[in-house]
Amino acid sequence: MEQYIIKGGKPLVGEVTIGGAKNAALGVLAAAVMTDEPVRIHNLPDISDIDILLNAIEALGAVVERPNVHEARIIGGSITTCIASYPDLRKIRASYYLCGAFLGKYKRAEVPLPGGCNIGSRPIDQHIKAFEALGAKVVKQNGMLIAEAERLIGTHIYFDCSSVGATINTMLAASMAEGQTVLENAAKEPHVVEVANFLNSMGANIKGAGTDIIRISGVQSFHGSTYSIIPDQIEAGTFMLAAAATKGDVLIKNVIPKHLEAITAKLVEIGAEVEEFDDAVRVVAKKRLVNTKIKTLPYPGFPTDMQQVMATLLSVAEGTSYVTETIFENRFMYVDELTRMGANICVEGNLAVIEGVEKLTGATVEALDLRCGAALVVAGLMADGCTVVEHIEYVDRGYENFAQKLCGLGASMEKINSEDEKALRRFKLRVS
Ligand code: UD1
Repeated sequence: MEQYIIKGGKPLVGEVTIGGAKNAALGVLAAAVMTDEPVRIHNLPDISDIDILLNAIEALGAVVERPNVHEARIIGGSITTCIASYPDLRKIRASYYLCGAFLGKYKRAEVPLPGGCNIGSRPIDQHIKAFEALGAKVVKQNGMLIAEAERLIGTHIYFDCSSVGATINTMLAASMAEGQTVLENAAKEPHVVEVANFLNSMGANIKGAGTDIIRISGVQSFHGSTYSIIPDQIEAGTFMLAAAATKGDVLIKNVIPKHLEAITAKLVEIGAEVEEFDDAVRVVAKKRLVNTKIKTLPYPGFPTDMQQVMATLLSVAEGTSYVTETIFENRFMYVDELTRMGANICVEGNLAVIEGVEKLTGATVEALDLRCGAALVVAGLMADGCTVVEHIEYVDRGYENFAQKLCGLGASMEKINSEDEKALRRFKLRVS
């Protein structure tokens, strides 16, 4: 197992470039199999979730070429089966996008029930409801989600909650249904817009993505396309918060500042300075940050994927902060790990009450999920002494070259094998 060893206390200073958006890329790659013609996708993040999905697409019979780690060329015309049985696919959440894509194109799909981070019950009832409304018969059997339809007929679908996954999955299927589909209470996240833009670039007819009403006029087939993925809002947000956490000065390049507004507003409120450029933001913090209240909400609200890193910052801010998680019920599991490092956080239901302490101290902690892992790395960068973050395979699912990018900003950290005690001793000697 690999782990990070981090010597905290150094301000992050310099420039970092943000990669392509994980959650957008996963939707786009699944959509890419819907045409028989070649599709070229640029600005893919080099992370394990993308590798898994591309391997799964190849295992279905598609041609998948990787001219470099940030680019894929996919030809869906050679797909031979609608059963996605690639073993690792069940580990990722976005496996379910192949269901919408295949149902739309072939009117049949069999995909593993989705995995992903253990952050709550994560039902898929809204996906199923939408597929059924379009005319599919859907069953869950032996760990697989099986959807089948003679014909998909456009219809009116009202989602009970704002779900990124259900909105994207339904767009995929409905874009090849007969007639018009209207999605109400649709999710408005940038990755929903991105998948709609990509589908439109292949010949789909989707209007209104980015608002809560999306209108889709089904078409019979798609053509090839070349597309570049938008920058990752959450990776950018993580570097913004890491810069503020370490009292640093970082220019975060290749971002869409509009997608970061909820994070920017909170950073300014707690005492950091944020300067916005056309495609970059600079975050500077010179003094101790102060308390605030955060409530996670669907976009454009404060993203649930930033909640853990933000709470980590607030654990050393002056005063008492309140963080309410409204999207996923299990998203406070990282609190016990932060407590090991000296944080004073009390969780009651979906509310975390954070009494800011003067400092965190290094400890051995465990990444329990992707964003928990990122939060613990930021905690390690702030803490006195050395922190070991175990199970960083979670972090690799969502952050490209995380340690390398942080070291480029002056962090003292290394990725080492947990068995390699010599590497641990060498690191400690080097940074002492
Ligand atoms: C996606 C992101 C994840 C992010 C989340 C919220 C991907 C691969 N993952 O996850 O990083 O944290 O959006 O921004 O893009 N819900 C239902 N029934 C459903 C679907 C969802 O009740 O059928 C509920 C969920 O339990 C949750 C809320 O809706 O409370 C939002 O979930 P959703 O937006 O679907 O999250 P994901 O698409 O799984």
